[in-house]
Formats: sequence, C-alpha cells, structure tokens
Amino acid sequence: MSTTTATKSHAGVFSIGGDIPVNRLGFGAMRITGKGIWGEPDDKEESLRTLRKLPELGVNFIDTADSYGPEVSERLIHEALHPYRGLTIATKAGLARTGPDVWIPLGRPEYLRQEVLLSIRRLGVERLDLWQLHRIDPKVPQKEQFEAIAAMQKEGLIRHVGLSEVKVSEIEAAQKFFKVATVQNLYNLANRSSEDVLNFCEKHTIGFIPWFPLAAGDLAKPGSRLEAIAKKHNAVPSQIALAWLLKRSPVMLPIPGTSKVKHLEENVAGANIKLSDAEFAELSELSKK
Ligand SMILES: NC(=O)c1ccc[n+]([C@@H]2O[C@H](COP(=O)([O-])OP(=O)(O)OC[C@H]3O[C@@H](n4cnc5c(N)ncnc54)[C@H](OP(=O)(O)O)[C@@H]3O)[C@@H](O)[C@H]2O)c1
Repeated sequence: MSTTTATKSHAGVFSIGGDIPVNRLGFGAMRITGKGIWGEPDDKEESLRTLRKLPELGVNFIDTADSYGPEVSERLIHEALHPYRGLTIATKAGLARTGPDVWIPLGRPEYLRQEVLLSIRRLGVERLDLWQLHRIDPKVPQKEQFEAIAAMQKEGLIRHVGLSEVKVSEIEAAQKFFKVATVQNLYNLANRSSEDVLNFCEKHTIGFIPWFPLAAGDLAKPGSRLEAIAKKHNAVPSQIALAWLLKRSPVMLPIPGTSKVKHLEENVAGANIKLSDAEFAELSELSKK
C-alpha cells in the first residue's frame, strides 16, 4: 500500500459526446461481481461501500455491462447509487455469457435491443447516457448491428454510442451510421497496441476508455525505473501507470476496477500524481520497447 492516499480525483474533465462532462478518472464495475465475472460478489457489502464511495472521491463516470455477472453489476450500481445525481453510468451489450469467464460475441439486432431494454430496466433510467457495443459480432453483418444501434438512438433509448475493441477502420465504418462518442480498448503502460486508435480518437475528440489500465507488466519489476519513479512519488507502480495514462492524452478516461474501498482510494490518489515531462517521456520510451 502506498502512502499516497486519496482525497478527491483532480484528473480534469472530458465531455462525452460533447455534452456529458465527466471527471476523467472513472470506475470499472466489472470487478464487483463473482469469480469469473459470474454471479454475486464474495463480499456484497464491500462492493456496495466501494460504489457509494465514488461520488465522495469525485469519481462520476462508471463503466459497466449487461454481461458483468451477468446483471449483477448493473443491479448493484442501482442499489448503491440510484438515482445517480451527477453520475454518468455507461453500459454495454453484445457479449453472451454461457458460464464463468466465457464471453461470446452476439450482435443480432433483436438481442442488442433486448439487452438495451433490460439495462434501462435494471439501472432504473429512461435512457442510457452512454451505451457501448461490447464487441462487433463477426457472425452478423456489421451493417445490421450498426443500423440497430442507430435506430435505438433515434428512438431515444440511447443518448451516446460507444464501441469496444475496435480498429480505426471499424470506427470509420460505424461513423456512417451514428456519431461514435467513445472507444473502449485494451490499453495500458505495458500494452500500447491500440496506439493508432488512441491517436484517431484524440484527433476526433472521441473519449478513449483504456481497459486493464493498472497493468504495468514487466516494467514494474523490482529494481525497475518504474519502481524508482513510483518511490519518488511515494506511490506504487499501478498508481504511476494511471498517472501516465492521464498525461498521455486529454481524451483518456481510465476506468480502474476494484471491489475494495482501500484499492479505490489508492487508485484515485494515483490519478492525482503529477508526473514531470521528463518522467512521462522516460516511461513512454520504456513502454514502447
Ligand atoms: N471492453 C472490454 O472488453 C473490457 C474488458 C475488461 C474490462 N473492461 C472494463 O475495464 C475495467 C477495468 O479493467 P480490469 O478490471 O480488467 O483491469 P484493472 O482495473 O486494471 O485491474 C483490476 C484488478 O486489479 C485489482 N486492483 C484494483 N485496484 C487495485 C489496487 N489499488 N491495488 C491492488 N489491486 C488492485 C482488482 O482487484 P480488487 O477487486 O481486489 O481490487 C482487479 O483484480 C473493468 O472494470 C471493466 O469495466 C472492459
């Protein structure tokens, strides 16, 4: 545990879709479910406490999905935080769950619509502020999936649309059907394979939501430069990984996930660490290798 502890997130603001301002340090609500992202969490009360702590710490952007649990994450968010004053809840659909740790793309238009309606019901809202297609289903024509989403947006079920795990060409294809407000791809200090997607998002003011944001992989080995920089800031490597992400781009919206208040506080503190330009450049160079 670092001695850098949280008061409130000061990571700055990004406007999702140009009209929903959120603090850039968000929260990922995948980890408040059971093992294998299946069923109820081991410690439900601690999951609820973690969620209720978010507004207090200035975290007002929460990422979830119909498939986390399934249903469990959205239900707990409703139980802990409804009616969400000042909070933006983003959810997703497009992955079927047939058991723990099993995720199967499912983009049939009727399934996407069913899941949007069920998320609306579970979250207790009239419309989803940000709904993300969890995966483009390779078994269903892309056009059918995008048309179904555009129709739900037109109908008022969805305010803004996001995509997840996509290439630049897929964002461009989707933009012919609807405005893409956010993109959620795997990205962290140790895995920068979505660099081109991030650059595209920055150019077009699309929010980029990196998942698995705390990972630093081998860069965090004992004796590493990352460890030395972390020590200088009285922090742990995962906090520096977050601080690096936030400095990397103004469209970056990291969503570290945890089921524990203590870890949440540590992550919020990480977002408040100010890396110097030299530290940022050094870490950027190391993580390219
Ligand atoms: N779009 C997609 O396909 C996709 C895929 C995966 C995830 N996501 C989203 O991205 C969010 C984040 O991704 P992620 O959960 O894979 O990665 P992450 O947030 O980088 O890491 C979460 C893991 O780190 C632990 N952790 C969190 N804070 C910690 C701390 N301060 N100290 C020690 N351990 C800590 C958590 O366990 P504890 O509960 O014990 O803290 C959990 O096991 C998810 O919640 C979900 O919303 C999206």
